[in-house]
Amino acid sequence: MRLGVLTGGGDCPGLNAVLRGLVRRGVNELGYEFVGIQNGYDGLILPDLTMPLGLAQVRGILPKGGTILGTSNKADPFNYVMKEGGKTITKDMSDVVLKRIKALKLDGLVCIGGDGTLTMAHKLAERGVKIVACPKTIDNDLSGTDQTFGFDTAVNVISEAIDRLHSTAEAHQRVMVVEIMGRNAGFLTLEGGIAGGADFILIPELPYDVEKIVAHLLEIYETRKKFAIVAISEGAFPRGGAQAVQAKADEIPGRGVVRLGGSGKVLADLLAPHLEAEIRVTVLGHLQRGGSPSPMDRVLATMYGAMVLDLVRDGKWDHMVCLRDGKLGFSPLAESRKERQVDPHGDKVRLAKSIGISFGV
Ligand code: F6P
Repeated sequence: MRLGVLTGGGDCPGLNAVLRGLVRRGVNELGYEFVGIQNGYDGLILPDLTMPLGLAQVRGILPKGGTILGTSNKADPFNYVMKEGGKTITKDMSDVVLKRIKALKLDGLVCIGGDGTLTMAHKLAERGVKIVACPKTIDNDLSGTDQTFGFDTAVNVISEAIDRLHSTAEAHQRVMVVEIMGRNAGFLTLEGGIAGGADFILIPELPYDVEKIVAHLLEIYETRKKFAIVAISEGAFPRGGAQAVQAKADEIPGRGVVRLGGSGKVLADLLAPHLEAEIRVTVLGHLQRGGSPSPMDRVLATMYGAMVLDLVRDGKWDHMVCLRDGKLGFSPLAESRKERQVDPHGDKVRLAKSIGISFGV
């Protein structure tokens, strides 16, 4: 069995751990051979983007962030952005991908990615490519699994950042707003906010009410302490308002989704006229995606990498590995690639509210 392997979408702590788990089990136990496809789906479209992927290449990569294969969150084989006659156009390059897979003599493809990469993987599977997948994203927003690797590491970063912001908040009696990634899902803000002891957790699933936040802030300052921490998702927005967008989908060729950012500044501007306390905004940005994976993510990623080969061995194509109720398993790509959001009526939101955390609603 000769398998191509690619990592697609934004980088994420644990990608290298998956590659290591995959190659070590594949080579040692199953006698498989691997070809590294570089820079996501670009590696199946552009020339000379493959690399050897054997035991030597995966040695020592477990604690490393990023991906030794490189990645791309713009290379969509079905809407590939290219220049033709001086113009930027999009073209269906899936035939090129099919030919390249044949030319590389691949028996199958392992795709490691989030909703975008997995959607493309599913579409290629529909065109007959033998594909299996591993779910990655710091956002944890894939419907087919309870947990993606990368999420735990990012929550650790957020929690530590909020711990650190407490110093300035307390010393200067400020309102510290911290903007957290996650696109349209509030999982990172919810868990990072609870772990860091935030006073407010504002997520896209619960559009916030500025008056409610002002009233609660004034109560905190008058009755309890002279500072506050507001954890806000990049995708959060005021009730009746809209998400803060850095770039619209059609401004980023190939990407297909908006680039969010600026929700913290929007909130600060809305709060400022009502407060005497100073407000400062910290955008955590890509710090949340970088660095060494946490032990929990290393374990999950290693398990995913090793286990995805069960799917190959059993010919269960068009599926991905997943974690459900604490147990490893499999789910069909057609369903699992879809986005999911925080349940606003779920236990975590309910219990966070019960200990006095405000969701601004
Ligand atoms: O999906 C992961 C993620 O980090 C999101 O949380 C964020 O909205 C997006 O990627 C940022 O993408 P980029 O690295 O292209 O700015």
